Amino acid sequence: MSYRLFIENLKGSIDLKMIKVWDYKKEYELLRNDILEAVDSVFKSGILVSGPKIDEFEKKFSSYHDCQFGIGVGNGTDAITISLKAMGVTTNSEVITTSNTAIPTVTGIVNAGASVKFVDINNYSLIDVNKIENEINEKTKAIIPVHLYGQMCEMDKIMELANKYDLKVIEDCAQSHGATYRGKKAGSIGHVGSFSFYPTKILGAYGDGGCITTNDEQIHDRIKRIRFLGMDKKKNSSEHWNGKYYAVEHGMNSRLDEVHAAILLKKLKFLDEWIDRRREIAAKYNKELKNTSLKIPVENHNNKHAYYVYVVAHPKRDEIMSNLVKKDIHLNIIYPFPIHIMNAYKHFVNNPCTHLKQTEEDAKKIFSLPIYPTLTDKEQNLVIKELKKLI
Ligand SMILES: Cc1ncc(COP(=O)(O)O)c(C=O)c1O
Repeated sequence: MSYRLFIENLKGSIDLKMIKVWDYKKEYELLRNDILEAVDSVFKSGILVSGPKIDEFEKKFSSYHDCQFGIGVGNGTDAITISLKAMGVTTNSEVITTSNTAIPTVTGIVNAGASVKFVDINNYSLIDVNKIENEINEKTKAIIPVHLYGQMCEMDKIMELANKYDLKVIEDCAQSHGATYRGKKAGSIGHVGSFSFYPTKILGAYGDGGCITTNDEQIHDRIKRIRFLGMDKKKNSSEHWNGKYYAVEHGMNSRLDEVHAAILLKKLKFLDEWIDRRREIAAKYNKELKNTSLKIPVENHNNKHAYYVYVVAHPKRDEIMSNLVKKDIHLNIIYPFPIHIMNAYKHFVNNPCTHLKQTEEDAKKIFSLPIYPTLTDKEQNLVIKELKKLI
């Protein structure tokens, strides 16, 4: 039975009346046997961390993203911190990114000891590449383009600036597994790509997890060392400490465990099919909502958008959302507050802040519609029907 049919026919313990902005329970019903088998095989193996499953997952995940190396880590926030540290971007460094992102992009930078410079967003809700150069100075060491909502940033221009000013580029791919820009996969263009497997993500775990991709062997070696308490286990090394419990440098403890690697290996096989389904749902929303008062997402013609979320904008967002809740349709706002207005990070901008106007404007109006592979046609039709009554 195809997974679509399986989902359409699901009955029983799951509350199918309520439409959520995200849900994993139908997916679990579909994959239950695979997942339990993965967990059981790890528990029986006697190896719970740093074993064969993580090796296999790192190889398969990086190769899926057209990269030579993959390094599993504890979560996507650590993926950013470790990447920055591995490339020497720490104290006294500035990192350029956007304020329309998840908090962890900035947490990851600050954890590495660096400061943040925010650039405004464009019509795709992504970093405005034409405004990056204004923010570059002698302290700037890296750019983190966030491939937000499942769509990649304009990487040609970003790499051009990185080469011109000798900057490192960390692609924040937490929301863009499998997305492409000019045919190149997320995480394969910059010096590294940082991924999250937080449960809601396009490839999600049943807990936390992350991965870093790179084509640079030196960066790979240092990332591996930092993620594991600064210890080194190099092949062919004659150092007296090699392979022993010995810290070569200050590191972190950030590992993707064997159970999650085994589960993610099972789910990785579905990734392309599930991205196609996300794109199919997005195409239907586009068709049905394009001539309404709702602003729908704009897909750059160079991109294959993976539609982690389907973000629309409307001045009456709060009214629309509360009316839909009455119909058991639960939407979400991703993200209601730009990072630069948050107490924790407002010191990174001038007061008053005048250069992040688009970011501030969008935050007042955006909200997300349900989009996940196990959303049924019936559910999507209901969302569209009820939404259309309100706009
Ligand atoms: C854009 C972005 N960057 C980074 C992260 C961090 O990932 P994690 O939650 O795995 O630490 C997330 C996920 O929440 C994200 O959406």
